[in-house]
Amino acid sequence: MSILHIAVDGPAGSGKSTVAKIIAERLKITYLDTGAMYRAITFAALTAAIDLYDAQALKTIVDKIDLKINPTAIYVDGVDVTEAIRTPEVTQNVSVVSMDPYVRAEMVNMQRKIASGQSVIMDGRDIGTVVLPDANYKFFLVADPVERAKRRLIELKAKGFNTSLEALTDEIVKRDALDSGREVSPLRKASGAIEIDTTFKTIEEVVAFIIDAIKEKE
Ligand code: DC
Repeated sequence: MSILHIAVDGPAGSGKSTVAKIIAERLKITYLDTGAMYRAITFAALTAAIDLYDAQALKTIVDKIDLKINPTAIYVDGVDVTEAIRTPEVTQNVSVVSMDPYVRAEMVNMQRKIASGQSVIMDGRDIGTVVLPDANYKFFLVADPVERAKRRLIELKAKGFNTSLEALTDEIVKRDALDSGREVSPLRKASGAIEIDTTFKTIEEVVAFIIDAIKEKE
């Protein structure tokens, strides 16, 4: 089989990661959660208690971090941070860290290296526009903000975090604005990307739609 690059972009809670993970298993290709990488840098920055707006301090963190990622786990300096990067504290600060041009350049480099020479499905905000502009397939997932907040609420409650639908909807709308409004690689639908509104679709419906779209062309 020739190398297959699939880009899945969209705002927080649109279902990208869930869907991309399942597609990776079905197509037997590598899955890369690029959001986890920005979260890991944010986790490291918060742990070091630096000012997240201090570009020089962020650069120091990025230059010395040992970041390892595989389809099921992510490690910072040898420590498994897969769960630790999903806390509300990291979620509330990740948009600021991911606005930094140096952080982005380094993460994009790593992401391209991972994609080179192998089939991969990557989910994020700038995969179709910046990381893999020549991807064979590009999808852009969207969903109503309240529906996205409901999905996050279920996830967070399952992990024991106490929050409300209103607070999560506010946070999602704020994060959308930051992710779409930043100067470097804002969240945008790539040209040629297929847009899928997941508001009223089940995970399986979205997975089937994407796999059918791929099979049609292969
Ligand atoms: O997909 P997620 O919610 O885990 O992503 C966390 C944050 O990382 C998101 O608010 C924006 C940023 N991000 C990004 O800027 N570019 C990517 N390719 C992936 C995520």
